[in-house]
Parts: sequence; structure tokens; C-alpha cells
Amino acid sequence: MKVITSIKEMQSELSKQKSLGKEIGYVPTMGFLHEGHLTLLNKARQENEIVVLSIFVNPLQFGPTEDFSTYPRDFERDRALAEAERIDYLFYPSVEEMYPNDSSVKVVVQDRTDVLCGASRPGHFNGVATVITKFFNIMMPTRAYFGKKDAQQVAVIAGLIADFHFPIELIAVDIVREKDGLAKSSRNINLLPEERQQATILYKSLQIAKKAIDEGERNPLGLINMISEMITSESNGQIDYVEIFSYPQLKQLEKLEGTIIIALAVKFTKVRLIDNLIMHIE
Ligand code: PAJ
Repeated sequence: MKVITSIKEMQSELSKQKSLGKEIGYVPTMGFLHEGHLTLLNKARQENEIVVLSIFVNPLQFGPTEDFSTYPRDFERDRALAEAERIDYLFYPSVEEMYPNDSSVKVVVQDRTDVLCGASRPGHFNGVATVITKFFNIMMPTRAYFGKKDAQQVAVIAGLIADFHFPIELIAVDIVREKDGLAKSSRNINLLPEERQQATILYKSLQIAKKAIDEGERNPLGLINMISEMITSESNGQIDYVEIFSYPQLKQLEKLEGTIIIALAVKFTKVRLIDNLIMHIE
């Protein structure tokens, strides 16, 4: 595995690989790798001849009061995990390398961001779309892998790829969970011990909502209230949002039909967690 910190070197390595006709799988991350990331890497490994992982905590996608400085980082641990996954290139640029000066151009996302994390984290998806545009231009991969844990991010990247004509196949990968159902996240380490216990209610409440839908419930508001009440009574977390929308359009629904997403975000003492469930209703 080659660790590369320079954009120029990364571009020249990958253009060499492409001239040899190799297919390239790309997995963008912010590091502190866990099984969720490793599942994306593993899928990329199965489907491509060359696999590239990037680790970059992107300042542009964090708000001024968010956890950029406390976001967990451990490069040596990540490097060993990447090595074990048989990654070909680990791209690990500095902030100065990615943003050498105040950019004159940034990507602004117009659709699918007025709700959910886009509404509670203003500018977040512009930061994601800007850094991913830069990474796509650096890597020009055959396929790019994203997790459905960040379902709104997948919807935004799908729009970015379509609107900017990137010749890249987007592969969306299912959510990887802990044994007790909590979605794996680099941020889980910042939960207090009692909050770690309480956080299982996020997934439990989604499962109970799914069961209600399977049994015929079609009223979004009733389900939203049911989930909110469960989270409030079983945890000290503050609900940021509980919403049900069409997916991937993220539009309000009066009646549940088609592909829908139930999405939620809950703030604990030092960390805000998200989870979701995507399902198809006839
Ligand atoms: P990060 O939070 O590190 O996540 C990197 C990728 O791993 C994302 O596509 C995310 O959806 C996926 N992922 C995280 N937890 C997962 C889980 N439990 N199951 C499945 N997939 C999971 O998302 C980002 O970084 C950044 O926004 C980034 C795309 C790198 C741009 O900066």
C-alpha cells in the first residue's frame, strides 16, 4: 500500500493505472475507520483492480460550533487497518494541500438539502459536495462507494454525479451496525457510557416504526410522533429531527407510498447521532 499526501502524485499514479486499463474503486472517508468503512473498502476490493481510500477531515463541512477539533483521529491505526484490507493507495492530504488558499469556486447544492441534516447543518452539504468534486477530479475513479448511513449524502452525491457529468458509478452500501443495532460511527466513541446504552433506542424505534408500516400504518405524522416519544422516554438525547420523506427526492409525503426514508438525528452531550431506514411500500 502506498501512502500519498500530494495531489499531483495521486493524480499521476492513478492516470498511470488508467492508461493500463485498470478499474479504480474509491472510498472517501474522514478516518477513524470502523467496520462501516471497512465494508465499503471490502466491496471496492471485490469490484475493482485498484482501490483508493482517502482520509481527510474536511473543515469545510463542519459548522463553527460543530466537532471539527474533537473529531476522532488516529492515522497509524487507520493505516494498519487499510493495509489489512489490501488497499492500493491511501490518500492522506493535509488541509493546506486540499485548500491552499481561499477558494474562488465552491459547489453549492440546490436540491435535497433544505431538510434533515441540510437544514440543521447549514453549509454542510456544500462542504461535502465541494470536497468530493475535488476528490473526484483527483481520482477519476470507475466507482465511488458511499454508505447509506448518510442517506442524504448519497442523494446529494447522486445529484452531483448527474449534474456535473462525472463518469463515475455511485455504489451505495447498506448500514453496518453494532450487535445491539446502533449504527457504527466514528463519533460513537464520544458518547458517555450511559448514552451508549440509551442510543440503542434510535434503531429500535426505527424497527418498531417499520413493523407498524408492515402492519398497515400509512400516516407519517403518527409514526413520527411514535418514534419521537420512544426516543424521549428512553434516552436523555435531544431530538434534532425525526422525519419521513420520499427517497432519494426527500420530499414531504401525505401518505406513505413508494420508496421512503425514515430519518432521525439525536443530540447527546458531546455527539449528534443519525440513523435511518429506507423501505419500499407498494
Ligand atoms: P465518514 O463519516 O468518515 O464516512 C465515510 C463513508 O463511510 C461514508 O460514505 C459513510 O456513509 C460510510 N459509513 C459510515 N458509517 C457507516 C456505517 N455504519 N455503515 C455503512 N457505511 C458507513 O461521510 C463522510 O465521512 C464525509 O462526509 C466524506 C464523504 C468523506 C466527505 O468528507
